[in-house]
Amino acid sequence: MRPRRATRPRPAGAGSGDAVGQVLELEVGPVAHGGHCVARHEGRVVFVRHALPGELVRARVTEGGATKGFWRADAVEVLRAAPGRRPAPCPVARPGGCGGCDFQHATPATQRDLKAAVVAEQLQRLAGLTLDVVVEPVDPGTVVGTAQEGLRWRRRTQFAVDAEGRPGLRRHRSHAVVPLRDCPISSEAVLGTGVLEQTWGGVETVEVAAGTDGPPLLVVHPAAGAHPRLPRAEDVSLAVRTPGGLHRVAGRTWVAETVRVRETDHAFRVSGAGFWQVHPQAAPTLAGAVLDALDPRPGDRCLDLYAGSGLFTAVLAEAVGLTGTVVAVEGEARAVKDARRSLHGRDQVRLVVGDVARVLGTPDGPAGQETGELVVLDPPRSGAGREVVGAIAARAPRVVAYVACDPAALARDVAWFAELGYRLDGLRAFDLFPNTHHVECVARLVPLG
Ligand SMILES: C[S@@+](CC[C@H](N)C(=O)[O-])C[C@H]1O[C@@H](n2cnc3c(N)ncnc32)[C@H](O)[C@@H]1O
Repeated sequence: MRPRRATRPRPAGAGSGDAVGQVLELEVGPVAHGGHCVARHEGRVVFVRHALPGELVRARVTEGGATKGFWRADAVEVLRAAPGRRPAPCPVARPGGCGGCDFQHATPATQRDLKAAVVAEQLQRLAGLTLDVVVEPVDPGTVVGTAQEGLRWRRRTQFAVDAEGRPGLRRHRSHAVVPLRDCPISSEAVLGTGVLEQTWGGVETVEVAAGTDGPPLLVVHPAAGAHPRLPRAEDVSLAVRTPGGLHRVAGRTWVAETVRVRETDHAFRVSGAGFWQVHPQAAPTLAGAVLDALDPRPGDRCLDLYAGSGLFTAVLAEAVGLTGTVVAVEGEARAVKDARRSLHGRDQVRLVVGDVARVLGTPDGPAGQETGELVVLDPPRSGAGREVVGAIAARAPRVVAYVACDPAALARDVAWFAELGYRLDGLRAFDLFPNTHHVECVARLVPLG
């Protein structure tokens, strides 16, 4: 790539290295992890948002200076567009606008290609693996037609509130709130609560969770030292987050989720504060992919690590039957309480509250050495890490299914597994976060040889 000259003189402060506000003409290179593409200016890497590989853009620097190793910029004008570009369906998905969606300016198919390139690049760079990655579309079943594809799918959204009580979403890498009257990726069920029509005095954020059955739940997080002014709750459940947990105001403090996997319905209760996948088809898609990867048989001994409210525990329990076992480990006591209710009567299930590394590191504990012929792990964005990967490998599982929301963390952990005798035997990637840069992967790892 040919370095381009800055098209505007350096603003005041350039002497101290401040480049913010400069507009650069840039040839845009490949997509990079994090929702931006790579360009170069005078030899320095610039991460450019709102651009696509192969484009020529004018980009305003949002973070940069003489002492910075790399800069960040927003494409503010496209001089040569890539074929995959389209107008963003949301009016605030633009430079300086909402930071929630990174890829609205790309067609849905292009978005999936960008995500596939990121997963492949991370596996190549961090695990030394060359893979042809395909990101599979997942129909949310809510809106049809390609113009609408990727919209109205999010069933859980956390809105921030500005100083005037207006709800919205935050700017990219900023605490500033962009007030919103609509969020086109949020589902009708979320918006139907009226969350964006209220003024939320004394509130920092409002989480909305819509389950498959029953009313949606609004969880209000009060601003520091404030008493939140709450709306009248009609056809919704309402709760306030307190230091001690959730205070119920109206309805219930949880939502109901029913997940159909291989012709069987599994019912879950998920407390407002607990983790649940946000795409309506995420739970059945991932549970199906985990079953495909592990191929559990009656009598198998399974470990479900980072188990949340017990999604994979339930489907594995069904598959291994009463002669098998599923030990589920989860750090959030409330999620385990939910799982306990949902999995009541499944005698083959054992639920353990605790840090995964600590629980696995206790050989005579509930997840001792004899557990884990089959292992599923679904860690947070930071990944599992060397210690947990080591503890899994030490149990010599037949197969490991790794569910990952961050391809970099997945690639790092796959590299640890490789050092301990496990190879990547397959990878599926799903577009469960359309219009954003996020992608969910399910990797299958098996012993070498
Ligand atoms: C990505 S969620 C997966 C939940 C579940 N597998 C599902 O699909 O619904 C990750 C879960 O790991 C839990 N968690 C994060 N760090 C943990 C740790 N160090 N030990 C145990 N659980 C942890 C979180 O509370 C969260 O429920």
